[in-house]
Amino acid sequence: MKNIIIYLIITICLISGIWLGINNHKEEKKGKRSTEELKLKKLKNVNKEIDYFRDEHLDRYIAYQEKNPSLKTEDIIKRVNIGLDKSYYEETKKTPYHNKDYILVNKYISMEDNYIPNHLEDLDLSYSRSGMKLVHTAKTALEKMVTAAKEEGYMIRVMSSYRSYNYQVNLYNKYVQNDGKEAADTYSARPGYSEHQTGLCIDIDDGIVNYTDFEQSKSFKWMQENAHKYGFILRYPKDKSEITGYTYESWHYRYVGKKIASYIKKHNITFDEYYVMFIENKY
Ligand code: DAL
Ligand code: ZN
Repeated sequence: MKNIIIYLIITICLISGIWLGINNHKEEKKGKRSTEELKLKKLKNVNKEIDYFRDEHLDRYIAYQEKNPSLKTEDIIKRVNIGLDKSYYEETKKTPYHNKDYILVNKYISMEDNYIPNHLEDLDLSYSRSGMKLVHTAKTALEKMVTAAKEEGYMIRVMSSYRSYNYQVNLYNKYVQNDGKEAADTYSARPGYSEHQTGLCIDIDDGIVNYTDFEQSKSFKWMQENAHKYGFILRYPKDKSEITGYTYESWHYRYVGKKIASYIKKHNITFDEYYVMFIENKY
C-alpha cells in the first residue's frame, strides 16, 4: 500500500512537471512572438509585403530606423540588406555568382583573388585604348552602343575595362601613396572589390575631354539618354554615394543587361539596391 502511494505521488509530480514545462515553453514562445509583432509594427508590418524582408535582420532594421527616422521603411530594409548599417569592409562576403551579368561587387561583397571571368575578349582599337578587354556579352553590347552613338555624331572611347586583381593592387596602392587610405577609399575599390575585375564595366571618355570631365561632354548626355538601351548603367551616380560607397563617377558604366538597366533607370535606383531586391537569394 505504502509503495502504491509513493508511486502515485511520483507520477503526479512528473505529470505536473511536464505540464508546467510545456506551458512555460508556450508562454516563452508567445512572449517572443509578441515582441516580434511589436517590432514588426514599428516597421509598419512590411514583411508581409516585401519579399526581400529578412527575418534575421529584424533587429538591425529597427536600429537603423531609429538612427534614420526620415527614411521610408522599404529603404531601411534595402539599405540594411546591402549592409549599410555597418562600416565599409567591416563584414564582407564573397559573391556566390560567377560569370553572370548580375554579379554585384561593392564594399561588402568581393570576388576571389584569382577570379578571372570567362570569355574575355580584346576590344577594337577603333573605340578603345590598346590592351583593353571585356567579357563577350558586354563587348557585343558595347560595340552596338558605340556604333549607335557614332551614327548620331557622338564619340565613346574606352579608357579602362577589365582589370585583374593584381592590376588593382598596384592601382589602389598608388592612390593610397598619393592621397592616403581614407581618401583613396572614396574613389578607388580595394583589390578584390573592384567591378573592373568582373570584366563587365568600362571607364570612357569622348576623345576630347579628360575622362574625369566626361560629365561636361555631349557624349555624356547621349549616354544618359541611351546607355540603358544597350544594357549599361551609370554605376556611381552623383546623388547616390551614400548607397554605392563611392564618389560620383560620370565615366564608369556597368553592363547588367537591358532588362536590369532599364529598371534601374526607370526607378532611379542603384545596382546595389536592385541586387538586394531581385537577385540576392533568388538565383
Ligand atoms: N573607381 C572604381 C570604384 C574602382 O576602383 O573600381
Ligand atoms: Zn571604373
